[in-house]
Amino acid sequence: MAIDSASPVPKYAQLRDLLLDWMVDTGLSVDDPIPSERELGQRYGLSRMTVRQTIDLLVSEGKLYRVPGKGTFLARPKIEMALALASFTEDMRARGYQPGAQDLVRRVMPASGSTARTMGLEPETPVHHIERLRTADGEPMAVERSNIPVDLAPGLDQHALAGRSLYAVLEQEYGIILDSGEQTIEAGICDPADAKLLGLANGSPVLSMRRRSFANGRCVELATSRYRADRYTLHSRLDPLR
Ligand code: GLP
Repeated sequence: MAIDSASPVPKYAQLRDLLLDWMVDTGLSVDDPIPSERELGQRYGLSRMTVRQTIDLLVSEGKLYRVPGKGTFLARPKIEMALALASFTEDMRARGYQPGAQDLVRRVMPASGSTARTMGLEPETPVHHIERLRTADGEPMAVERSNIPVDLAPGLDQHALAGRSLYAVLEQEYGIILDSGEQTIEAGICDPADAKLLGLANGSPVLSMRRRSFANGRCVELATSRYRADRYTLHSRLDPLR
């Protein structure tokens, strides 16, 4: 296939599709280099500027990554996140990754006004505040901040959570089985502290999630999470709106 000069599709977009096909056809593996901009320009009869525009696009889509002075390489496929009431541990295992958790903050504190309102608690009700760095195969993936009412899980602060599933602890130690939840997801920009934890440049895009999970009608967890947008994609089945 070649670039079609008569097509209304911009050349950089045509090249994007051609390159994606080429990667599949040649069986390019993760971390393999792609040809240089100059080579691609010659191969497809395009200016270096157009080729760069295509590469920039594929890098911003997370399909390629650049190593300064070395070249451009095929990135790992993004992880598809299930839009389900699943724990990070379950979700990662289902996708063949080894889940991990590193404790950043563990403390009992009075719920802030908005946390109490959102969780249906009296103002200043004590909550466990838990901040964790979540990893997949040892690689930082997300920063998760959870609030759990102390009366539902007394002594939770005594349970080690590093490398352990919070949902499993809630179930095994407190008999809490989450049965419903709701979640909002929006695009966000990583703040400097989270960027450092996630190994990202300041201002990198993240998926910001806010989840409330319930058991028997009571809000058990209010969590805000920041997932790396370069490693995650959301996937959901679509049914007609009724
Ligand atoms: C998901 C949710 C979090 C929840 C976590 C529990 O990532 N977004 O709100 O705290 O799962 O995961 P785990 O049981 O693996 O600790």
